[in-house]
Amino acid sequence: MAIATKVRLVTGVKLSGAGRAAGSRIQAALKLRGRALASSLALHPSSKLRIPILKVQGMPSLFDPIRFGAINSPNRIVMAPLTRGRADRNHVPTPVMAEYYAQRASAGLIISEATGISAEGLGFPHAPGLWNANQVAGWKHVTDRVHAAGGRMVAQLWHMGRLVHPSFNGGAKPVSASATTVSGQTHTYEGRKPLEPARALGIEEIPRVVADYETAARNAIAAGFDGVEIHAANGYLIDQFLRDNSNLRTDEYGGSIANRIRFLRDVTSTVVAAVGADCVGVRLSPNGAAWGVNDSDPHSLFPAAAATLDSFGLAYLHVREAPFTGKLDTTGGGARDASDVPPVAPKIRASFRGPLILNSDFDGARASEVLARGEADAISFGRPFIANPDLPLRIRDGLPLAEFDQATLYTNGREGYADYPRSSVAAA
Ligand SMILES: Cc1cc2nc3c(=O)[nH]c(=O)nc-3n(C[C@H](O)[C@H](O)[C@H](O)COP(=O)(O)O)c2cc1C
Repeated sequence: MAIATKVRLVTGVKLSGAGRAAGSRIQAALKLRGRALASSLALHPSSKLRIPILKVQGMPSLFDPIRFGAINSPNRIVMAPLTRGRADRNHVPTPVMAEYYAQRASAGLIISEATGISAEGLGFPHAPGLWNANQVAGWKHVTDRVHAAGGRMVAQLWHMGRLVHPSFNGGAKPVSASATTVSGQTHTYEGRKPLEPARALGIEEIPRVVADYETAARNAIAAGFDGVEIHAANGYLIDQFLRDNSNLRTDEYGGSIANRIRFLRDVTSTVVAAVGADCVGVRLSPNGAAWGVNDSDPHSLFPAAAATLDSFGLAYLHVREAPFTGKLDTTGGGARDASDVPPVAPKIRASFRGPLILNSDFDGARASEVLARGEADAISFGRPFIANPDLPLRIRDGLPLAEFDQATLYTNGREGYADYPRSSVAAA
């Protein structure tokens, strides 16, 4: 079938300089597939200021359903995990978190904020945990509200490794793959403090840490989550094992790529055995430094990690990659909006046969383009979800996006959290 003649207008985005550029990228993308579509770029009927987001017959759009293992998502707009610091001092989720997540239930899938698997692994003020019964009960209210609002939600399982400040654990040193120290500061209950030296996990301790992942995964299912996402990204414990500037071990968990992947493999196989592969996802962040964690050869390491994960038949793989600019953006401790490493995701795509979720710096137009090119199966959005609880609707209808307030990102209250309204344009 000649796809060029089957381009269908789905919706529009605001026509700005960026929008025009996006339109050209979509055209270029489709031409790349050998299908000219110039005549099909009609303006959205409701506005002179819109260009269309396109649906190409046979290629998925953001608004097509998708199965992530056992999870049936009505669209391919995933809410990326966002730490927001609204749990209580005992890391128990609070009622306002249920309100906040339920407001965002139109996402195809919500990935929870990073959630501590153990006291040892959690070093962020008012971040939630999943290691005790009170935390499970607190999360149950959240998942009930999300389900009642028609949504689906997985829990992101987090061990921060060397990024835990000792003040969270009675002065105990944080643990990591190796005895290393990150330069930089972290949030504590007493304000920002310099990170302190970590100690290497003894090989005999690894089963205990893996068991903490298992307990947290079982607790997540008991708390009503539809699944879990193993957080292996962003410079936290699993990433500290994966990459060679933070993993200096000489035992079977260090050295070769196969050895550095071993901890991720152990965690994944244990969590899969506990809750089932079809409700387990994994998040990786292959390009650029993250909290001082970096690798000399990410183009070999991460496709190998993806191939290992492929063997489990996971619900999905979630890859965060900042756009390649040739220059690393180190604001906030890691690769954020720009990376000096060319994208690894295409190689990961070739190594992992399950659904691939891509992340970082997407807008609706670029997300549509990436899906249309078959580079990913779904796209996750982080910051855009903060001030736009109805983000899928706004993307679909080309409605303006609200900006979030930086000052209230991590403050422990409703303000700047659950008080961002739905689009007034949509309501009108
Ligand atoms: C406030 C904030 C909190 C975040 N918390 C987490 C987190 O808990 N777990 C995680 O894997 N990534 C976290 N991230 C990274 C986001 O999931 C996402 O990768 C990043 O914002 C880039 O995507 P975006 O361009 O769509 O915002 C956080 C980012 C922000 C801005």
